[in-house]
Amino acid sequence: MPDDRSDLVVVSNRLPVDRTVDADGEPTWTQSPGGLVTALEPVMRSAGGAWVGWGGQPDLGLEPFEHDGIRIIPIDLSETDIERYYEGFSNDTLWPLYHDVIAPPSYHRVWWERYVAVNRRFADAAIAAAAPDATVWVQDYQLQLVPRMLREARPDLTIGFFNHIPFPAYGIYSQLPWRTQIIEGLLGADVIGFQRVADAGNFTRAVRRLLPYSTKGSIVSVPDGDGTRQVLAKAFPISIDTGAFEELAQRPDVQERAAQIRRDLGSPRKIMLGVDRLDYTKGIRHRLKAFGELLADGRADVGDVTLVQVASPSRERVETYRHLRDEVELTVGRINGDYGTISHQPISYLHHGFPREEMAALYLASDVMLVTALRDGMNLVAKEYVAARSGDLDGVLVLSEFAGAADELRTAVLINPHDITGLKDSIVGALEMPREERRRRMRAMRKRVRENDVEHWSATFLEALRRTRNGEDPLAPSEVVVRKNSSSDKAAR
Ligand code: G6P
Repeated sequence: MPDDRSDLVVVSNRLPVDRTVDADGEPTWTQSPGGLVTALEPVMRSAGGAWVGWGGQPDLGLEPFEHDGIRIIPIDLSETDIERYYEGFSNDTLWPLYHDVIAPPSYHRVWWERYVAVNRRFADAAIAAAAPDATVWVQDYQLQLVPRMLREARPDLTIGFFNHIPFPAYGIYSQLPWRTQIIEGLLGADVIGFQRVADAGNFTRAVRRLLPYSTKGSIVSVPDGDGTRQVLAKAFPISIDTGAFEELAQRPDVQERAAQIRRDLGSPRKIMLGVDRLDYTKGIRHRLKAFGELLADGRADVGDVTLVQVASPSRERVETYRHLRDEVELTVGRINGDYGTISHQPISYLHHGFPREEMAALYLASDVMLVTALRDGMNLVAKEYVAARSGDLDGVLVLSEFAGAADELRTAVLINPHDITGLKDSIVGALEMPREERRRRMRAMRKRVRENDVEHWSATFLEALRRTRNGEDPLAPSEVVVRKNSSSDKAAR
């Protein structure tokens, strides 16, 4: 029997492909728009890589298959798995807890038990798919127990974990009844990556509070047989496929579409844009409150400024999300009712997702981009806006300091979304900002987003993983980083 095991296995809750059924009822798979798969595609192809994940619907009963040179290994989830592992423990316990309890987390033992069981299923599939001495890279909060499960069964593996969402301060994290098991699960990895330096610090502090392991900077010493093993816990801020986004925004059809969007909105003097999953972490209510008050104060005028709010449907069976949708739609309806005219609506609200081309056109059409998250691991929308505006160096990014992107995009208009008065002043400042200042701020952000694109991110992570595993210094300056920086510096000029 041929050995079809892989040298690189990625494990994430969702597969990097979406299942759609065509007009004849035939199921087909298309690559999902996320940056992760784009970044990993070349490495995955050359390593004969495999991807373990869920197909997004219950009980699909699918066999592994090949898609664009990547071996896809689907994990089956039943209705009960979805309720308890995905909607329950992942998105109603961990998600609110890790986002600083903006919504109250629910703790249920049956959800935890299912989280353990489903993590085991993902781990077993990765164990079966990994060649001897392979690298396995586990993604995100849904799968925090997988690293340890992998290590126990397969000590030959090199194991990476990346947490795409924040890691909370210990005072919050300590609420979790299973706080020690989660930390132990993560410490099965050789490298644990976080979005922000603060997240990595919160993690190492949690380790010190819960386990008798010593930590030095970003290195945790974990007992291993008679000796110890070094685990690196460090920030690797994720990014987007910057080049692809820049190219998209340069396309004449996309630019024409942007002009059309402006005309369709009645050619207002200024367009503001919000693009979010409909999630309570995104600060959509705060943004709407600020805009509503600006209209009420007469500092914004309906014929003059339009807010386009794209809110893509998300986790709609979780109660907190249903409640949020009702609140947002009530507020949008009120603002439009109070300040709309026959020819102009202050808010154009769209409760659906859009293809990348349309997103790029929306970015190009908008004078001000509003990212007002109360807490966000990174916020890739902020980076996409910058990449889309790298051609005309125009547009203003209003960015919450509570989004990971704020650590990198320092010349955005940084705001505290809880401070509604400050947010209103920042919005007015952004709407009136002179062209030269817009250009200066955007140029600095463009440089950053070009230097750290998603390919750079994954190469840096995988290099740190290789070094940690080989006992080399993972913190020494990396070839990958140096080479990449110098070439994009040139591109940025
Ligand atoms: C966040 C998480 C991802 C998740 C995505 C969409 O970005 O970090 O892991 O896939 O939200 O959420 P969903 O629940 O639809 O997968």
